[in-house]
Amino acid sequence: MSLLELAVTNVRCIEAAQLTIPPGLTLIWGANGSGKTSLLEAIFLLGRGRSFRTRNNDRLIRRGQDHLRVVGRVQRAAEQIDTIGFEVTPAGVSARVAGRSTQSLAELSQAFAVQVIEPGIHKLVEEGGHRRRRWMDWAVFHVEPPFVETWVRYTRALKQRNAALRSQPALAHAWDAEVARLGEQIAESRRVFLDQLQPYWQETVTALTGLDVQLHYVRGWHAETPLLEALAASRPRDEARHLTHSGPHRADVTVRTEGRPAREVLSRGQQKLVAVAMTVAQLKLLRALSGTAPTLLLDDPAAELDGAHLQRFIEQVLRLQSQLIVTSLTSESRLFGSPDATFNVAQGRVQHV
Ligand SMILES: Nc1ncnc2c1ncn2[C@@H]1O[C@H](COP(=O)(O)OP(=O)(O)O)[C@@H](O)[C@H]1O
Ligand SMILES: [Mg+2]
Repeated sequence: MSLLELAVTNVRCIEAAQLTIPPGLTLIWGANGSGKTSLLEAIFLLGRGRSFRTRNNDRLIRRGQDHLRVVGRVQRAAEQIDTIGFEVTPAGVSARVAGRSTQSLAELSQAFAVQVIEPGIHKLVEEGGHRRRRWMDWAVFHVEPPFVETWVRYTRALKQRNAALRSQPALAHAWDAEVARLGEQIAESRRVFLDQLQPYWQETVTALTGLDVQLHYVRGWHAETPLLEALAASRPRDEARHLTHSGPHRADVTVRTEGRPAREVLSRGQQKLVAVAMTVAQLKLLRALSGTAPTLLLDDPAAELDGAHLQRFIEQVLRLQSQLIVTSLTSESRLFGSPDATFNVAQGRVQHV
């Protein structure tokens, strides 16, 4: 997988930019506030439909404008090049892949596999389950393509059940069978993914941190109970709170070390390395299972890492043989070798050098 060309319109401080990107290493350098991270956000939007810095896509629109657009040409396989377009307009968010509008962000994820390692990545360890569910599901989208359809249908059925819990609680159970059937499938796909991940995880977290950190999958409802039964059992609570309390939307992957949650034990820098290990391990698994090497965005990669850990980090990243797009404050940065293309960003203007 690699991004060949990119056109950006009205993303934060970038009014317009066009880039041709090599399959190897791209360096994007510029002063603080010049627009480097904004450029990575634009690339991330193409494959994820959201930013890694904000949940609110409207904030990405350049001040004074009413829309943003990102268009990319993506090499998906030797013979397959697709155009992907993503827009945020006053009418909402829309995406097209190869001329067809996409139904969900999950579909976009499949069209352009992109991952990011950025200064906020430690939140994957530190914060609540939703980031880890997203981390897990993104990988499952790639190793098991039919999962996307199941996931979309589950999300829809869950929304309908929750809407019924608000408007006609007594009728909400009409959705239980569908929620349970799809929910069990999602939980099983995630379990398989986490099982398959374990050897890659052990190897990667040891190489990066030297720590013993375990990932443990929690599926989102009582162990040993079929989801249909769990839904029935939690119905009084669901009706009272107008929410579905059991199901894979409550899943998590716990991150533990020394018998305690990693976020309580590890420093910020160590959490960053653990989160990097989660990301690198899943990229290794994707490569092994599906031959996909996602594009990897590295925003300010050296932040918070001492020399020895930075060296281990670089080794792990280079082994992935992914397309790399790296930001730096200086044009001389050679952390990942000498770049195949270099761009300078200044006040939102992107120039090939
Ligand atoms: N919606 C927006 N419209 C215009 N400018 C914005 C918007 N959001 C952020 N900016 C500006 O974009 C600039 C570039 O930010 P950023 O990409 O984070 O820079 P860098 O990563 O190079 O340090 C910042 O100065 C910020 O004030
Ligand atoms: Mg930045």
